[in-house]
Amino acid sequence: MNESPKNPARRSLFKVLGGVTATGTVSSLLPGCSGSENPTRNSLTFKEIPHRLDYQHHLPEGYKSTVLLRWGDPLHKEETSFQPEELSASSQEQRFGYNNDFIAFMPLAAGTSSTQGYLHIQSKNSDRGLLCVNHEYTQPHLMFPGYNDEYSATRGVSAEHVAIEQAACGHSIVEIQRAKQGWKLVADSPYNRRITSTTPMEITGPAAGDERLKTRQDPSGTQVLGTIGNCAGGKTPWGTVLIAEEGFGGAFQGDPKKLEDSREIENHQLFGIKPENRNWGDHDRRFDIQVEPHEPNRFGWMVEFDPYNPQSKPRKLTSLGRFEHEGFTLVCKPGQPIVAYGGDDDEHQFVYRYVSQDNYQPEDPDTNRKLLVNGTLYAARFADDGSGEWLPLIYGQGPLTAENGFRNQADVMIDARRAAALLGATPMDRPEDVETNPHNDCTYVMLTKNKKRSDTDAANPRARNTAGHVLEIAPPGEKGDRDHTSAQFQWQQFLLGGNPNAENPAERGAYGQQSPYDISEHGWFANPDNVAFDPRGNMWIATDGCERFGFHDGLWAMATEGPLRAAPKHFFGCPQGAEVCGPEFTPDGKTLFIAVQHPADSRNSTYDQPLHRWPDNNPLLPPRPSVLAIYREDDQIVGS
Ligand code: FEO
Ligand code: CA
Ligand code: CA
Repeated sequence: MNESPKNPARRSLFKVLGGVTATGTVSSLLPGCSGSENPTRNSLTFKEIPHRLDYQHHLPEGYKSTVLLRWGDPLHKEETSFQPEELSASSQEQRFGYNNDFIAFMPLAAGTSSTQGYLHIQSKNSDRGLLCVNHEYTQPHLMFPGYNDEYSATRGVSAEHVAIEQAACGHSIVEIQRAKQGWKLVADSPYNRRITSTTPMEITGPAAGDERLKTRQDPSGTQVLGTIGNCAGGKTPWGTVLIAEEGFGGAFQGDPKKLEDSREIENHQLFGIKPENRNWGDHDRRFDIQVEPHEPNRFGWMVEFDPYNPQSKPRKLTSLGRFEHEGFTLVCKPGQPIVAYGGDDDEHQFVYRYVSQDNYQPEDPDTNRKLLVNGTLYAARFADDGSGEWLPLIYGQGPLTAENGFRNQADVMIDARRAAALLGATPMDRPEDVETNPHNDCTYVMLTKNKKRSDTDAANPRARNTAGHVLEIAPPGEKGDRDHTSAQFQWQQFLLGGNPNAENPAERGAYGQQSPYDISEHGWFANPDNVAFDPRGNMWIATDGCERFGFHDGLWAMATEGPLRAAPKHFFGCPQGAEVCGPEFTPDGKTLFIAVQHPADSRNSTYDQPLHRWPDNNPLLPPRPSVLAIYREDDQIVGS
């Protein structure tokens, strides 16, 4: 096996394609993103782990992890230890929820109990904080004894099952502290709380109060119970957390075709609402569209909440549009409008950007809290020549008029997918996280896959895209001073997922920019989903789908600049059946939190006979979705 003389750790067995790939251009010509200098060279020196597939999680040598939070862990001292067979809805409401996804670490400043979150954020304290964790969805066959297809078909599902599932979805806020033995939960913290599928929330922005959001329970159209499908999210510098409502359609049952209002037929079909869906609606009637045809319009939004004020009410932000939100991440520059980037995680859906009407003022939280209420949403058009344009979703402009069924801005936001398509936005290969690297001010789009694609374009270059890819967006300007509010941008492919040696060019991966800096045989992955940037500007990609390629999902880290740009190294591997979500670093970069979602999810794997019982490996406990805290044994920066 050849070894590169300049970088002996990197084997050239998997020589990657520099310059031009079989399917599109992977170049380093974007102004400034790739960097002519080499700031992060050799900054990822950890010993790479191999591709594997087994019932454990795997870390590089010299690293250790703590299982910090598991499904069912009590968030308050008075709750007993977890006994899944005794679980009730009221008990689940006091415990860590199911299928952990996005994680936000929100620092708690030492010596202050202020409810002003921005003061805590600015402290950058890395020893104490609030871990804010999404719970995307439930899997009753892995949660309840005896629950299998036959059970649900012949005996039906009880109201108590549904109530437990609703209590296990949503979000957890948990105070954690770093001690000598690693991180631990503060069980009596006044900050600890759950947000569930029944927590009261306010609706803000252009769709608030619209007739299409009114129900019998809420004739005002401004108050809603709960959140569902909480996938990824974002954080604000004023101290709030954004959580995304992604696959909410599956929680609703009923036949859209039987509705009188033709607008809602197409709308509900677009989100996969159908008679055979889950049966929450049998027991909580608002989840049956024949009973409440507008209830689905109250989901599919971004939700903002304040973790530093446990009494505060979460609010849905209709100015960010309604679709299957993966998340929204922010670029905030003092004295300028804030810009938020997000994706709609479905085949042939769009990448979005939001620009606030007012400017961000770091020391003025009251002004900042309006920034996500008043502003303009845009959808992206990626031209084949590497240029791009943001198309505004504004009622009355272009095709967004009464002729196309839009009455007002509320309609444009509720039917954002239809609006973006009419504007000519580019249908993408399932946009997941979209996040900006503060080190080069460029924005990265995770496109996880799209087996339904037949027509290709430069931004989505593979038909029947099974492995996914990553795009890089450069707003105009220089590094550190790019104009994220501009209507124009440049873009290019950053990497193509998949095996770089795959015979089929449509499945062949492309990583790295400059030979001889190659990846190892374990450096490739598929299906990028979540992404995070460490404090040194390295990119960490979490995957969802690698088992189809023969190995575990996990984490791969890489530089975005310099000779090792887009050349991944494998850092973490999941137990079989799981995907990794929510990579999140403490501000000092010494702890990495990750969420292991749906461990032991596999054909025929049930509560009674699971594929495995990670992380407890206790015959009395099922597999449990869990959050890990990962750190170096010598307490140095993760990845270095
Ligand atoms: Fe919930 Fe887009 O993954
Ligand atoms: Ca995701
Ligand atoms: Ca996922």
